[in-house]
Amino acid sequence: MAYQEKQLQEISRQFQIYGEILHAETLKIGHINETYSATYDQGGMRVRYIHQKINKGVFKNPVAVMKNVMRVTTHIRRKLETAGARDITRRSLVVIPTRNGQSHHVGRDGEFWRTFVFVEGVQSLEAVQSPDQALQAGRAFGEFQSLLVDLPGGRLHETIPAFHDTRKRFGALQQAIAKDHYNRARSARPEIEFALNRAGLVGVILDAMAKGKIPERVTHNDTKFNNVMLDTLTGEAKCVVDLDTVMPGCALYDFGDMVRTTTSPTLEDELDLSKVKMHLPIFKQLAEGYLSTAGAFLTPAEKSLMAFSGKLITFEIGMRFLTDFLSGDTYFRIHRPDHNLDRCRTQFKLVESIEQQEKVMQKFVDGLDRGTARKSKRRAGQGS
Ligand SMILES: Nc1ncnc2c1ncn2[C@@H]1O[C@H](COP(=O)(O)OP(=O)(O)O)[C@@H](O)[C@H]1O
Ligand SMILES: [Mg+2]
Repeated sequence: MAYQEKQLQEISRQFQIYGEILHAETLKIGHINETYSATYDQGGMRVRYIHQKINKGVFKNPVAVMKNVMRVTTHIRRKLETAGARDITRRSLVVIPTRNGQSHHVGRDGEFWRTFVFVEGVQSLEAVQSPDQALQAGRAFGEFQSLLVDLPGGRLHETIPAFHDTRKRFGALQQAIAKDHYNRARSARPEIEFALNRAGLVGVILDAMAKGKIPERVTHNDTKFNNVMLDTLTGEAKCVVDLDTVMPGCALYDFGDMVRTTTSPTLEDELDLSKVKMHLPIFKQLAEGYLSTAGAFLTPAEKSLMAFSGKLITFEIGMRFLTDFLSGDTYFRIHRPDHNLDRCRTQFKLVESIEQQEKVMQKFVDGLDRGTARKSKRRAGQGS
């Protein structure tokens, strides 16, 4: 049930916002967050704010979520200021504290609320419609990671532990197959076989991280295109939102999830599998955008697994859908029978499509990287 205007106004008044509240309304009731906006009259100017209710079911420790969000947004802002960047209030979320200086407000019903400055003149789109938008997405998330490479103050809280522990996800699938509690394994034979045949994928990044070949970084962990705010006039990415899952991770998980969510023009539960395909022109723009902002800090080992990461993250989500199908659909909400199996098939079809093009994809990434290295060498030469 969405909140009524009167309740929203009361919540809104708990934050350090000046002026007179004019109205408050629902902006989006998503899978995870409930997002509302409130408009204030500040000396004759209308100013909007975002109020968001944190989902306590998903985030067991909302205080830790907000600590992460505060650290990340403060650091980004400071770096943009130091760099003399323009348009700073549209380049990163700004948290508005409560009247008693807290990062969040706990309502009478025990719900957690936080408030951001409303970023004006931007929009988020559900799906990538052009290669340039893929470039913008890659650039935005690459920049986000790059601004956070030197985040001081130790590790962020792991707000969802083992989020991309692909080995653990594979183990959970094996268990669900062995239990087959709902007698559904027989209707998912090809998918089960597909997953078991790819056991070798699940440890690649984890092992590289454990051996210190790939560093842990601050990552966004929800790099869907609708979390990129694009300037409504220029189409340029301004900032990224949805910072609840920002935590320690692997840079490649963010890139991999971008590949998964942007390179196929289909929905996550597309039934016509012939339409599910990794589109190379979109991948190329995504990689170009990402390397334009992340290329300077990524190590050769990270870059060498960029195409692979798209395959791995798509495989991981496919495994999770399959596991949930076999376990009675307890995690992902379904809207029709076999919905999770359909979702799994879509993901596995995309995995297959990436497999067929993985070499070309990685070759393109390697070429981009060499191009960037040549350019910066030339620049260094000019400077001396
Ligand atoms: N500070 C903001 N200014 C303007 N719009 C915002 C802001 N924060 C979020 N939004 C809009 O609300 C949508 C939902 O917010 P988000 O934090 O992504 O939650 P979720 O995706 O979990 O529903 C975003 O896609 C964006 O369009
Ligand atoms: Mg979102």
